[in-house]
Amino acid sequence: MYARWRPAAAGRVTISRRARMSETDRRTEMPENTLTITDNRTGKTITVPISERSSGGDETIRAPELRQLRVNEDDFGIMTYDPGFMDTAMCRSTITFIDGDRGILEYRGYPIGQLCEQSTFLEVGYLLIHGELPTRGAYEQWVSEIKANVMVHESIRKIVDAQPLNAHPMTILIGAISALSTFYPEAHNIHDAESRMLQTKRLIGKVPTIAAWAYRHALGLPFVQPDDDLTYAGNFLSMMYKGTEQKYVPDPVLERALDVLFILHADHEQNASANAVRAVASTEVDPYSAVAAGVAALYGPLHGGANEAVLRMLREIGSVKRVPEFLKAVESGERPLMGFGHRVYKNYDPRARKIKQTAYEVFEVTGVNPLLEIALELERIALSDDYFIKRKLYPNVDFYSGLIYEALKLPPEMFTALFALARTTGWCAQWMEGAADPEQKLARPRQIYAGHRQREFVPMGQREHAGVVARV
Ligand code: SDX
Repeated sequence: MYARWRPAAAGRVTISRRARMSETDRRTEMPENTLTITDNRTGKTITVPISERSSGGDETIRAPELRQLRVNEDDFGIMTYDPGFMDTAMCRSTITFIDGDRGILEYRGYPIGQLCEQSTFLEVGYLLIHGELPTRGAYEQWVSEIKANVMVHESIRKIVDAQPLNAHPMTILIGAISALSTFYPEAHNIHDAESRMLQTKRLIGKVPTIAAWAYRHALGLPFVQPDDDLTYAGNFLSMMYKGTEQKYVPDPVLERALDVLFILHADHEQNASANAVRAVASTEVDPYSAVAAGVAALYGPLHGGANEAVLRMLREIGSVKRVPEFLKAVESGERPLMGFGHRVYKNYDPRARKIKQTAYEVFEVTGVNPLLEIALELERIALSDDYFIKRKLYPNVDFYSGLIYEALKLPPEMFTALFALARTTGWCAQWMEGAADPEQKLARPRQIYAGHRQREFVPMGQREHAGVVARV
């Protein structure tokens, strides 16, 4: 520990009592679980409590503590600056745990692998929303309540019909989901737990129907009504693919594979879209508007839109022999390797491993997707290449999922819509947790202002001469 010098009268420096104390004395004197921070501009020292280590191993300090450190009394004080919130916790949550270094993912403490092997998407949805796995009775009630909410108001159909045939399904979902708020005005009662649960069931029930409508709209096909006899995944397949047959019968392998994919995409703690949902919901707007914001965030190619981008990348590479040339372009920074890398996982994304295994099960039924060998070759080379190793870039959830969706005859623009369909459950869980959290406040980050100050207005005719015109 460095000695701390108090600036004294000019010329004389005294060493404070604490600086004369031994390291052990000083440590015993300071309360445990604190940081001692000295502002070297003023010599001021503050003691900041470190939060208790959470079950996820997280330790934080409250950023406002740092505002005690200022040079002038009327300064705002020190803030933290963290673009992309890479090291900033914005909430306390008990929903999903990720250990990025060890490639661990748990929903309410249950490892994702066990849930994929032993559970169903709706049972996982119950777990995410209620915090515990359901009893048989609770599960049957939950399933019937979701089924009771799969129909979508005919007026929403008009919103879908009004879109051009080539409208991206994600833009249709954004518009249709936000429009649902006009049909359920009571959804604005966000402090009413019963209403929150009802809106959640409506969203989990209706988003698949709207996603299937978006698909059928693009093909000019009539919309298919939900079929109560089928599972959540089976009903989605029916609404997507039912033709003139009396009753659509899903292939059980494909139905199960889709259910597992929905489980794997259900939630992922404070990813960009969950953050968008929480931030929009923090204004106390209704959940349909907040979830529509989540869909918009997920749409981006850095986030959920990556699964569609991966498929287009694999098609562009076209053959295994062109993989080395493509990876050279990646390493030179010309192209990203879509489906690789992750803000949290610095190890193999456990979902990618499961999706890769599921792909083989699907290909048993559909035949192998020819793009698989290109994906496998990309992974094989990337995992042994220094560029990727150094940056800890591994396949993420989006690398293999598109191969399955394509094998299920889905067009690439539907891939992210399926991600949104599954993630709606996670967004609702995050929204409910945020709405009930007494610590949560309106999300309103600060900034570092680095622009002009106190400028005099310049009449238009003098601006070029004064050099105050925008560089276009
Ligand atoms: C999802 O957050 C979640 O949980 C999201 C998600 C969920 O379930 O909600 O898991 C779903 O969004 C998965 C991610 C899908 N996106 C992609 O596959 C797009 C490709 N990936 C990258 O865009 C990137 O990896 C991100 C955006 C996912 C993460 O980037 P970060 O954390 O901001 O890291 P970075 O961009 O600062 O990268 C660090 C280095 C950089 O190189 P250097 O400047 O140090 O030389 O790694 C490089 C990057 O250029 N890098 C890549 C790369 N990803 C990072 N280089 C090539 N290809 C890539 N894909």
